[in-house]
Amino acid sequence: MIIAIDGPAGSGKSTVAKLVAKKLGFSYIDTGAMYRAVAYKVIKENIPLERLPEILENLDLKLLDTNEGVKVILDGEDITDKIRTEQIGKKASQIAKIPEVRKKLVQLQRKLGLKAKNAVLEGRDIGTVVFPDAQLKIFLTASAKERARRRYNQLREKGLKISYDEILKAVIERDKTDMERKESPLKPAEDAVIIDTTNKTIDEVVQMIINIAKERKLT
Ligand code: DC
Repeated sequence: MIIAIDGPAGSGKSTVAKLVAKKLGFSYIDTGAMYRAVAYKVIKENIPLERLPEILENLDLKLLDTNEGVKVILDGEDITDKIRTEQIGKKASQIAKIPEVRKKLVQLQRKLGLKAKNAVLEGRDIGTVVFPDAQLKIFLTASAKERARRRYNQLREKGLKISYDEILKAVIERDKTDMERKESPLKPAEDAVIIDTTNKTIDEVVQMIINIAKERKLT
């Protein structure tokens, strides 16, 4: 069984998807981490975009389930924490516009989902493209201001000095790139349940999703 959780940056997808997967005993697959991993490689090795097809051909990317959560391993290196920066997020959004990148990563995501049998996949196009037959599709939203506030608090907690206005600008820009791209733009699937998380706690959202899964007799 596949549960698809899509939505824009800062909608709470990752936290919610991880908790839903844990509660149901499903695997958790973070597809954004895959786009981030490719972006990391492009930046680190200064790879020109015309070389991307060749890089993708030989991509050595693994998502490892460990006691400390899922680890992202690229070319044997643990890059789990290194890919969580604004710079990588922005680059990931840019390279995610390229059809060859999407083709390769979607293929990998389908393989991982099918191998896991029961999985929660989190991303932008899971319900529309990766698993259009997913048994449950959730689309999380929240106002841009609320999403920027959440990101601001996260970064401040990490000790980073960045202004709220800068983050709000970055959130709006990323929404625009993700929603306006030609290839698999960010949008809810027609049969997705849309949940606005603006005034809800993480636990409330998780419980709503579990309840829908139960109502539909998916658990
Ligand atoms: O969820 P995230 O912030 O880690 O994702 C980073 C970028 O990757 C996002 O801005 C767009 C892209 N992405 C995508 O195009 N499709 C997905 N299924 C997941 C992420």
